[in-house]
Amino acid sequence: MADDAPEPSLQNVLDQKELKWIFVGGKGGVGKTTTSSSLAVALAERGDRDKVLIISTDPAHNLSDAFRQKFTKTPTLVNGFTNLFAMEVDPTPDLGDMEQLEWAQDSFLTELAGSIPGIDEAMSFAEVMKQVQTMDYNTIVFDTAPTGHTLRLLNFPTILEKGLSKLMALKGAMGGMMGQMTRMMGMGAEGADNLPDQLLGKVEGMLEVVRKVSAQFKDPLLTTFVAVCIPEFLSLYETERLVQELAKFEIDCRNIVINQVIFPESVGASKLLDARVRMQSKYLDQFYELYEDFHILKLPLLEEEVRGPEALRAFAVNLLQPYVPPPALPAPGTSGREAVLEAEVAELRKKVAELEGQLLAKK
Ligand SMILES: Nc1ncnc2c1ncn2[C@@H]1O[C@H](COP(=O)(O)OP(=O)(O)O)[C@@H](O)[C@H]1O
Ligand SMILES: [Mg+2]
Repeated sequence: MADDAPEPSLQNVLDQKELKWIFVGGKGGVGKTTTSSSLAVALAERGDRDKVLIISTDPAHNLSDAFRQKFTKTPTLVNGFTNLFAMEVDPTPDLGDMEQLEWAQDSFLTELAGSIPGIDEAMSFAEVMKQVQTMDYNTIVFDTAPTGHTLRLLNFPTILEKGLSKLMALKGAMGGMMGQMTRMMGMGAEGADNLPDQLLGKVEGMLEVVRKVSAQFKDPLLTTFVAVCIPEFLSLYETERLVQELAKFEIDCRNIVINQVIFPESVGASKLLDARVRMQSKYLDQFYELYEDFHILKLPLLEEEVRGPEALRAFAVNLLQPYVPPPALPAPGTSGREAVLEAEVAELRKKVAELEGQLLAKK
């Protein structure tokens, strides 16, 4: 790693108070929910934001599991906090859900939704954005679905723009045809003639929100994407794809979280762990080489899952300052007293690191 490499922490994200949208994404199972939840906890605990919201857009919701508290599609205060809220939304609504959307009340719009791939998802995401925009959250953290899904979601302004042009093209044809049909059926043509205009008005209203949000997404002062991965081939490969796609969408990405890292100090006598450490070190080198201008931070693979507010609080410390592994276990033959002392020192070091992290977070 070069000496002038960006600091290995997410402190830059916490310090940027104007940041409104923070996306956390990556492959399934790498630690998106764990990272986004602890980041949201760190943002809330810092105390300089009145309201922080974490939204899960992964159909396999697990914010509820991570916080051990049931969340719904309405923002709910997280237990033990005064300024952290959480909600779980479904970006792939079934038809029943779709009908509840304001913009999809119309059968024609629902029909249209069916004819443009991805537009139903885009519409429901736009609805969520519209809802969230009207609430006064300082920062909104997205715990996103696996990469492909998230990229589709970020592309929703384009999809909706295409939908509108299609509707415009249909308008002329439909207007005349609908008028003719209703006249044939002996009804007044007035309502039917107005129908496409009403639809257009609705879609245009939706586009206004979409364009506003889209402009914010492209502003690195307001939006950033935190890529989460693990030190393995597939994840490295997928991270590169993600980083390139984000560049195409003009979405800022300058932090890479490498989760589930096994530190050499934790290997002990395990051949398996030793082999994993060597495998991981190969990919870690590649990450550092590929992303030298990124903040790259390594999160330790723990013995237990990271669940519940306390576990998340403790894990969040690692986002603010590099994890210091406890020193290696004493070699066989070291005296018992020495081993006890070493364990005590390790415990104290861990405590110091935690307290330092809390101090840093408050600064
Ligand atoms: N560094 C870690 N050490 C131990 N367990 C972890 C770690 N990171 C994540 N986990 C656990 O692994 C599982 C998957 O993590 P999660 O954050 O839900 O992944 P994703 O959201 O990417 O699918 C969860 O049970 C979580 O508690
Ligand atoms: Mg998840």
